[in-house]
Amino acid sequence: MRGLLPWSVGGVVAVLVAALVWKEPECVEDAGVAPRPRPPVDVVTEIWGKAAIGHFLWEHVLNASLEEREDGLWTFGARGFGRDLLKFRSGPKVIPGHVPVHAVERLVLVLNGRTEEKREAARRWLSFLESLPNLKRTGAVVLGNESCENSWLAPHLRSNGGRLDFVFLVYDSRMVDGESVFQWPLGVATYRGFPKRCISSGEQLERRRKFFANFIGTVYENSSREVLVEVASESPEDVFLHIRENWEPEESEETLTLYVKTLQSSHLTLCPSGTNPESYRIYEALSCGSIPVVEDPRPGGDCDDSPLRLLKAHGAPVVWIRDWRRLPDLFGRERLKSEERRREDRRRVYSWYRGFLSRMKACLSGFWSLRAGQHWGMPAWPEARKGIEEGVLLGHGGGQVGSASARVVVQPVALIGPGPDLGFRLLDQAEAPPNASH
Ligand SMILES: *[C@@H]1O[C@H](CO)[C@@H](O)[C@H](O)[C@H]1NC(C)=O
Ligand SMILES: *[C@@H]1O[C@H](CO)[C@@H](O)[C@H](O)[C@H]1NC(C)=O
Ligand SMILES: *[C@@H]1O[C@H](CO)[C@@H](O)[C@H](O)[C@H]1NC(C)=O
Repeated sequence: MRGLLPWSVGGVVAVLVAALVWKEPECVEDAGVAPRPRPPVDVVTEIWGKAAIGHFLWEHVLNASLEEREDGLWTFGARGFGRDLLKFRSGPKVIPGHVPVHAVERLVLVLNGRTEEKREAARRWLSFLESLPNLKRTGAVVLGNESCENSWLAPHLRSNGGRLDFVFLVYDSRMVDGESVFQWPLGVATYRGFPKRCISSGEQLERRRKFFANFIGTVYENSSREVLVEVASESPEDVFLHIRENWEPEESEETLTLYVKTLQSSHLTLCPSGTNPESYRIYEALSCGSIPVVEDPRPGGDCDDSPLRLLKAHGAPVVWIRDWRRLPDLFGRERLKSEERRREDRRRVYSWYRGFLSRMKACLSGFWSLRAGQHWGMPAWPEARKGIEEGVLLGHGGGQVGSASARVVVQPVALIGPGPDLGFRLLDQAEAPPNASH
């Protein structure tokens, strides 16, 4: 099992992560190990979505459904994972006074930290935690600032005396340490109504695409997008360009349909950088099986020196481009590929994305799968980056267990390259000895 190779193997970086001793093995899904019956629910985790990215988390990453309550004033969903039950609430009526208080022991807040105005609301939710008497574990999934200015969060971390045991943060923030702050993907723009499933059948993925490439978007003055449009305009008409000068947050039914249909009908989708290079468009294209051509710009703001490192760490099979003036070369190369080869590339992008979502689910599930006395963690970025540079598979797992018969949790959250859907699983120490080579 390639993906379960966490220990030091040749050039593979070993990351000791979750080490725990289990009396009773449970939830074993590993091939060759008989699955056990699911135990009854014993832990409830509440997720309160106070930022639009909550819907990406719930519907896309956790593949769970939602129903409207009180004429859409709020939405609710519940889903079990093994012994864990997750409950999701979002919408304007999810406010103090309308959320459970005494019953909440584990809580994940989904917050928006993009601007000062949004942070005000986020801070109010963090102070509200004081009124939850039985809270044992708290985390947050946070839409970070596009320039990675997130210092407001620091005092709220448990390590600094705050209430948050962990934070999953969007964008390449330097606060991500792999210990209590982890990176989270921006995802698709659910707030603009981007659909849960862009591809609804195998046939849709396989069919020949009408457009070779597309870009639908806003072009800001003096941005790299101007270059993109200038260069792309000289391409044949199978390159679909639809440009607007002002950004419209509210998608009309019509523009959304045009956008989604175009992604479904394009072999490539051009993804220029905005204030931050990580855009919804990248994830939207991936979910539609259209290969993103992603601008890999020089780093800016307070962001990390390696832009888009989450996608890179997970080996996203996208096309990276530094300068849009190289686009004609890229198009030339791509056009030489046979239709069969292009189809294969699209399939690869699509299945990588499905695997990526399930790895993100595995990351997050570390939070609610924990029982008393257990620990978990993820590799720190320096290690992940070393793995990227060396081009090796970066495994991720447990070590240091109490006795020979102990079991170890392995979380495959930092696999390089497309990996199988591993989920969250346990394996015997004997199954993966520290010096196993592959
Ligand atoms: C998501 O859930 C639906 C059922 O609600 C299921 O049919 C589908 O296969 C699931 N998708 C994934 C990727 O697990
Ligand atoms: C956050 O990002 C925006 C750019 O999108 C910037 O204008 C703003 O000042 C940043 N910083 C903070 C602390 O909000
Ligand atoms: C764009 O660049 C030009 C020339 O450098 C400059 O005069 C203009 O003010 C810039 N516009 C914006 C919006 O920054």
